[in-house]
Formats: sequence, structure tokens, C-alpha cells
Amino acid sequence: MSNILVEFKATTGIFGTSIITINRPKALNALNIETLKELKETVEQEAAKKEVRSIIITGSGDKSFVAGADITEMDGNTNAQSVEFSELGNAAFNAVANAPVPVIAAINGFALGGGMELAMSCDFRLASENASFALPEVGLGLIPGFGGTQRATRILGLGHASELMFTGGRIDAARAKEIGLVNHVHTSETLLDEALKTASKINRQAPLAVNSVKKVANAGLDVSLAQGLKLETQAFGDIFDTKDAKAGTQAFVNKEKYEYQGE
Ligand code: CAA
Repeated sequence: MSNILVEFKATTGIFGTSIITINRPKALNALNIETLKELKETVEQEAAKKEVRSIIITGSGDKSFVAGADITEMDGNTNAQSVEFSELGNAAFNAVANAPVPVIAAINGFALGGGMELAMSCDFRLASENASFALPEVGLGLIPGFGGTQRATRILGLGHASELMFTGGRIDAARAKEIGLVNHVHTSETLLDEALKTASKINRQAPLAVNSVKKVANAGLDVSLAQGLKLETQAFGDIFDTKDAKAGTQAFVNKEKYEYQGE
């Protein structure tokens, strides 16, 4: 799988973080069909491993996270081919968004079009100072096709999302932080270490609880508050059936330490 690199970093005993790198540096990590298929497969495989408690997605090199969908491959597409390409992009990014474990975007440069859409399918985003963001599709005569029109509005609100989508304009990391697109900005040299530090904090928590929080919080975006609260109550009950919940609360009461097993 040459378009995607995977490296596992243990952070807590045998448990750790899988770093998935989009690796087409010559095309600034633009996403072609092959890469999207590999990304989907890799995320699903990594997220299913018991030792993987979180995932970081980043881009190869120091210039680009992902410079969008591969424009050379889209050029001349028919309606049907474009629908198929959009469905593939959505399938790959839904694999990220719906991965049971948290996924952090470490945005190390251009996050344009499909690149910004990939970042938005992650649970949250960290950026390097040289990162830049845009949904420039209208400048190509297109619209975002890998979830941008839906995820940007949810993450940024309609106003900021619309401005980005209507103008196609590029924003820097500081502005991205200001509008809530990224949580933190780091130097290029420290970005991955900082992402790993955050991941390692996540990895120390009870994994089934973390995964449940992700599932319930995301499901809540699609339903009313009353329905969301019901989902939370159900999940709150279910988590008490886990070994880790019993051991975690017991350890607190007994003033002991407990290493969560994900059971
Ligand atoms: N698709 C295919 N190839 C791309 C690419 C893309 N999205 N972005 C960059 N590349 C390629 C360039 O064609 C170039 O290849 P060659 O060396 O073979 O000519 C190589 O990467 C390096 O790029 P540049 O020489 O252009 O580098 P630069 O530093 O001068 O500019 C850039 C960098 C501003 C990112 C510029 O490459 C650019 O504007 N890229 C396109 C960005 C874009 O419009 N992305 C949105 C795509 S549409 C989309 O994503 C739709 C969707 O929602 C599904």
C-alpha cells in the first residue's frame, strides 16, 4: 500500500496510536481513487486492532496535508463517474468519522478541498503554523464532493462555512483556530509529537468509554436534544456493564491505579 503509510506507536503498555500518512508527496498528497480505497481499508483495519486506541492522520512531507481530490483524475468525468467518485470519497471519510476510536488530524500544510474535507471527518484537528485551509471547488467550477458542504456547516456554522465555500478563499492556521476549525496550532517540527501527546492522554482513558463518547456525541448531531439525551442515558447504562467501568470506579474508591483493558 504505497499511497498510505502506517506506523504504530505504543504509548501505554501494548496500547497505542496508529499514525496513518497519506503518501503521494509529488502530487502534494492529492487523493486519487486508489488512495481513497487504501485509506478506507487502512482505517478500518487499524481501528479494529485491540492495541490501537487512537489514530492520527497526517500528510507526507512538510508542505502538504492533502491538496484535495486528484484533479487530473476528475478531469473529464461524466455525471455517473463523478457520483461514483463522491461516493468513494464519502465511504473513505465515513470510515474515518465512524471509526470506533478517536481520529486526530495532524494538518502539516495544505488542507484544500478534499484535504480540508478529510480533516473535517476526523474528530478534531491540530495544525502546523504553515497549514492553510480552503474549499476552493467553486474556483474549478465544482462543489465540494467529499462531505464539505455538510461537515463544514456542522463544524463551523453556516456563516463561516458559506464564506469559505462561496469565495474558495484560503485561510491560515491562526484564522482556522479563530473560527474553530482547528483546536491548536504548533510548529511544523512539534506537530506530530503534540498530536501523539494528545493521543497518549486519550489512550490512558477507558477505551470503551472513549469510544462510547464518540459514538453518542456524533449520533446526537443528527437527532433532537431529547433523543440525544436518551441515547446518552442508554449508553451510560451500557458502560456500567463493562469490566473497566467496574474496575475504574472501584480503583477510585480504593485509592488504587488501574490500567484499562478495553473490556
Ligand atoms: N490534484 C492533482 N495534482 C495536484 C493537486 C491536486 N489537487 N494539487 C497539487 N497537485 C500537483 C501539481 O499538479 C504538481 O504536479 P506536477 O509537479 O506534476 O506539475 C504538484 O502537485 C505540485 O504542485 P504545484 O506545483 O502546483 O505546487 P505549488 O506549491 O505551486 O502550489 C497548491 C500548491 C496551491 C496546493 C496548488 O498545487 C493547487 O492549487 N492545487 C490544487 C488545490 C485544489 O484546488 N484542491 C481542490 C481539488 S477539488 C476537490 O477536492 C473536490 C472535492 O471536494 C472532492
